[in-house]
Amino acid sequence: MFLKTLHLRSFRNYAEQQVEFQAQKTILVGNNAQGKSNLLEAVELLATLKSHRATRDRDLILEGAVAGQILATLERLHGESELSITLRSSGRRTLSLNQEALRRQIDFLGVLNAVEFSSLDLELVRGAPECRRNWLDALLVQIEPVYAHILHQYQQVLRQRNALLKEIRQKEMAAPTSSPDRTMPNSQLEWDRQLAEFGSRVTRRRARVIDRLAPLAQAWHESISGKTELLEIHYIPNVSCVDDDPASVQQAFLEKIEQRRIAEQQLGTSVVGPHRDEVEFRINHTLAKSYGSQGQQRTLVLALKLAELKLIEEVVGESPLLLLDDVLAELDPNRQNQLLDAIQDRFQTLITTTHLNSFDAQWLKSSQILSVKAGAIA
Ligand SMILES: Nc1ncnc2c1ncn2[C@@H]1O[C@H](COP(=O)(O)OP(=O)(O)OP(=O)(O)O)[C@@H](O)[C@H]1O
Ligand SMILES: [Mg+2]
Repeated sequence: MFLKTLHLRSFRNYAEQQVEFQAQKTILVGNNAQGKSNLLEAVELLATLKSHRATRDRDLILEGAVAGQILATLERLHGESELSITLRSSGRRTLSLNQEALRRQIDFLGVLNAVEFSSLDLELVRGAPECRRNWLDALLVQIEPVYAHILHQYQQVLRQRNALLKEIRQKEMAAPTSSPDRTMPNSQLEWDRQLAEFGSRVTRRRARVIDRLAPLAQAWHESISGKTELLEIHYIPNVSCVDDDPASVQQAFLEKIEQRRIAEQQLGTSVVGPHRDEVEFRINHTLAKSYGSQGQQRTLVLALKLAELKLIEEVVGESPLLLLDDVLAELDPNRQNQLLDAIQDRFQTLITTTHLNSFDAQWLKSSQILSVKAGAIA
């Protein structure tokens, strides 16, 4: 797929900016705080409807404006698509595809695919389990858009169930009884059932995507490390799923809820479910999170990103965009070359940098170079 044009209106520090992409590689060059990452963020939103930097739409809109817009034309094998996202400082987003307003997010997701790689991605290895869950979820949303819906349902049930547990705990604290009533109100049993139903769907999909991603990442890791390192990726679900059978995963879920019933009531929150999943990376059998060197962790993240590209390409049947935010300069020449070799001309790549001198001459020649200054592109 090829992003032909991107039009930003009151988005971040861009008041009005049209960009036409003319080469497989585009280098966005500029000083700090000029708007390079903001542009990549717009593409990330088109791909996932999420930004890894902003939690509120208000922050994405140009300061002082009440609404912002991202418009794009995308070329895919089966034709051209026009995408648009309208963001409002108060109120809901509006999405449209080929000028038709969409009611559901899942009809928008999966039109444009992108893999982002930034220096923040080291958090994938070093950060809290939540970073890894978010990463996995963002990947799943792109290859199976319906997953966005499943995850949303799970999160809603989880929120409601937590509210109920909190209420039970508050009542218990206000009027402690020597033998608290451990019989479950029907409402909680219904939440248990729903948590198990949606939770097991989340778990099974996460398990399947790791199964597919792990060998790809392992192969890349082996090649980048010159066959000296073996990467293992293990999905550690909170509720284990030994097989992919929906009924048995749900059953395991309900059993674990039963086991942790008292703990949940004491804590006043749900402790069972995929919101407590973990993904473990091991290099030569040791945990990369605690024992990996910086270089090993970088290699690992690079291998993961390359694996994501390949997996999306396999599933979607077209090559996704690659967004490289400030990472090339951080990689040593060997890793840079591995990355450049892997990309070649297969993926449309948008690269941000503050300096052009870290780039290969051949690369510069074949790239479109755009300079970014104070929310304007020359
Ligand atoms: N909603 C907004 N309205 C106006 N300006 C904004 C908004 N959000 C962010 N900015 C501005 O955008 C700039 C940051 O842009 P961006 O993150 O794209 O920088 P960058 O060019 O990638 O820089 P670096 O090289 O440091 O990564 C900051 O100056 C910030 O104040
Ligand atoms: Mg930046």
